[in-house]
Amino acid sequence: MSSKTINLNDSLLHYIQSVSVQESEVLKQLRAETAKQPMAVMQIAPEQGQFMSLLVQLLNAKKTLEIGVFTGYSALIVALALPPDGQVIACDINKEYTAIAQQFWQQAGVAEKIDLRIAPALETLDKLIAENHSNTFDFAFIDADKSNYSNYYEKALQLVRPGGVIAIDNVLWSGRVADPEVQDNRTQKIREFNQNLAQDSRVKISLLPLADGLTLALKL
Ligand SMILES: C[S@@+](CC[C@H](N)C(=O)[O-])C[C@H]1O[C@@H](n2cnc3c(N)ncnc32)[C@H](O)[C@@H]1O
Repeated sequence: MSSKTINLNDSLLHYIQSVSVQESEVLKQLRAETAKQPMAVMQIAPEQGQFMSLLVQLLNAKKTLEIGVFTGYSALIVALALPPDGQVIACDINKEYTAIAQQFWQQAGVAEKIDLRIAPALETLDKLIAENHSNTFDFAFIDADKSNYSNYYEKALQLVRPGGVIAIDNVLWSGRVADPEVQDNRTQKIREFNQNLAQDSRVKISLLPLADGLTLALKL
């Protein structure tokens, strides 16, 4: 019994990964390929990917949204968890990163499930709202530029159905959110976002200390 979340050191994290993460070969290969990129740290952790895969299955999700694709790990693990007629609408602005993503989606046999939209995500989300996709998504994952988190959340909240879930990444921002000495713009934006979400009566939330912090918001 414990009233406090355990502190994770490296050996405990390795233990958790060794007894719980079941990463398929293609996901392992994508992780290895991404490790060659200077911005490899942007990729989600494997235990987070596995959690999201489970969540998508628990929700019986068919239609999902991703904001921030990078080399495609989170979109791939979600697409693999969806039924054959499932769909991920995936937003990013970077053609170079997403070219790697598309190669691995193809290799995994899920390319036809992922509709990649190369444009500023706010434009794609506005277009989806204008095209009557509101209240139709089962799951949304927000993992792009932090300055727009509140905007992404508001649009995702329109697009997700009641009972659907929005997952928001990096809400602990390597612990900087709780360090009063850190006052840069991105940290402040995440703090502000977390604070507002805690008071939002349109959702029920849980902030999980998983990887860099993942908040789940269930749309009521
Ligand atoms: C943290 S990475 C995403 C990581 C990814 N979810 C994964 O599993 O590897 C953030 C991504 O957001 C994209 N991005 C940044 N600003 C954006 C914008 N305004 N619209 C869409 N995508 C954006 C970046 O190009 C980058 O690929």
